[in-house]
Amino acid sequence: MTNFADLKQSDLDRQKRQEYVTQLFDNLAPRYDRFNRAVSLFRDEAWRNKTIQLLGENRSGAILDLAAGTGDLAHSALRLGARQVHVFDISREMLTFAKEKFRRQSDMQTNAAFELGSAESLPFKEGAMDGVVSGFAMRNVFHFLDDVLAEVYRVLKPGGSVAILELSQPDNPLLRHGFRLHMKIVMPAIGKLTTGDSAPFAYLRETTMTFLTREQFKRRLERAGFVQVKWHCFMLGAIAVHYGTKPHRTSISDR
Ligand SMILES: C[S@@+](CC[C@H](N)C(=O)[O-])C[C@H]1O[C@@H](n2cnc3c(N)ncnc32)[C@H](O)[C@@H]1O
Repeated sequence: MTNFADLKQSDLDRQKRQEYVTQLFDNLAPRYDRFNRAVSLFRDEAWRNKTIQLLGENRSGAILDLAAGTGDLAHSALRLGARQVHVFDISREMLTFAKEKFRRQSDMQTNAAFELGSAESLPFKEGAMDGVVSGFAMRNVFHFLDDVLAEVYRVLKPGGSVAILELSQPDNPLLRHGFRLHMKIVMPAIGKLTTGDSAPFAYLRETTMTFLTREQFKRRLERAGFVQVKWHCFMLGAIAVHYGTKPHRTSISDR
């Protein structure tokens, strides 16, 4: 498998970078849920529920879980009343595990569709979704983030909601230092214990440390056209959900 550090040095093109990411998650898929529970100290379900709640009333409509992995956000959305969920990801293996999870609960399976593809070119009609959510995925599509946000905007109905759960960095310098140590030492150790491999966690650390600040990400969402953009933090700022709305009518004052 290509080494991520080498890819960075060679200023890789989008396709090569995407191949690396897809392969990484294909390999991680069987152990992904176990790793997630352990590294979040079993808090991720609560964060996901809050992410869905931040969609407001739109949460009861059609929800796209973008870069859904094993579909945990879509699962929360159905439990919290969504009519229909779309579980969308580029990794065939992650989707296989998502399908298996939903199959075990047949009432959920009937309201879930599973789609393979890339986030910057979504196979949904304009305005098809009431809400779009995404968890821990924006770092993976950072190389074409604006294209992805434009697609999220396009597929949302006017008045639709977006909520994006992502790793962030605490504001307090001391806590930030602790968070960096956690990412450098504790997370690879948990990764090794739960998945038997510490290599993918160098990639996770790298992408977290180079991702946008909360303020920068808010501005990117606003630039994509979203309004009323805010964030909600967990774990003293180590995790954040950014959420906002597609305006009913686009006017200069909305931007
Ligand atoms: C860290 S996992 C997050 C999975 C899930 N959303 C969650 O909350 O646990 C990142 C996911 O992004 C997916 N991904 C990476 N690049 C993608 C792309 N271009 N389009 C769609 N999904 C992508 C990966 O396959 C992986 O499932």
